[in-house]
Amino acid sequence: MNLSDKAGPIGVFDSGYGGLTILRELEKALPEHDFIYLGDNARNPYGTRSYEVVYEYTLQAVLRLFEMGCHLVILACNTASAKALRTIQQKDLPGIDPNRRVLGVVRPSVELVGDLSRTRKVGVLGTSGTVQSESYPIEILKLHPDIKVFSEACPMWVPLVENNEYNGDGADYFIQKNVSQLMQKDAHIDTIILGCTHYPLLKSKIQKYVSSNVTILSQGPVVANRLVDYLQRHPEMDTKITRGNQNRFFTTESVAKFQESAGIFLSKPVLAEHIKID
Ligand code: DGL
Repeated sequence: MNLSDKAGPIGVFDSGYGGLTILRELEKALPEHDFIYLGDNARNPYGTRSYEVVYEYTLQAVLRLFEMGCHLVILACNTASAKALRTIQQKDLPGIDPNRRVLGVVRPSVELVGDLSRTRKVGVLGTSGTVQSESYPIEILKLHPDIKVFSEACPMWVPLVENNEYNGDGADYFIQKNVSQLMQKDAHIDTIILGCTHYPLLKSKIQKYVSSNVTILSQGPVVANRLVDYLQRHPEMDTKITRGNQNRFFTTESVAKFQESAGIFLSKPVLAEHIKID
């Protein structure tokens, strides 16, 4: 693989639209940096797919973003972070280019949760894949062994968002159901991690079904904060990122469909381009 050493944008990858909730915050935190967003809309959802498939798809996306000039890629997808990140970091990156980096969204939320929870009972809402991977309980146990984690898979939530049905009454049915099931596991949960990048769009509905003293953690601002900190600590990476406030959007699905939905997520018009990554 022949990769250019020239500076390039930061790559942001998600299976679909959810990563736009992360991109939105990254743009605010790093307004001059350039970004490329890649949504694998043709093959999503990832949440119900096996380790092998999520790893294969994610690696393809990362390689494509490297080819497009990115030195740093954020997996703005919990499922990909949970199921593919470690293997890519440990097995693939050293052979591809040891100076490129791929970072995920699980670790930043895990670090923060230790400061937020007073009861030391934390809930995680995520896709079936993220919950089955047990990435959150495993990572939380490493950093905060006194915290007990309760997880709930919410398989209907991504389709509700992807199909733009998340404001309707139908969404309330599924949100209430999963949130109540989580809170039944322990009534003292005081912090809930939205462990899927689609879920910030459902936050106001989720809030309706828990008491007001429960903190609901959206990942966007947390990941953005951590990235700013990372780039300050790694000036050699920061100089590899182009500045020009230019963002490009790529989708593996229909461009028209992507532009319509991405516009809703970002509250601004988006011009997308089609890409093949397999
Ligand atoms: N947005 C992805 C996440 O954060 C999941 C979407 C999907 O299932 O493809 O986990």
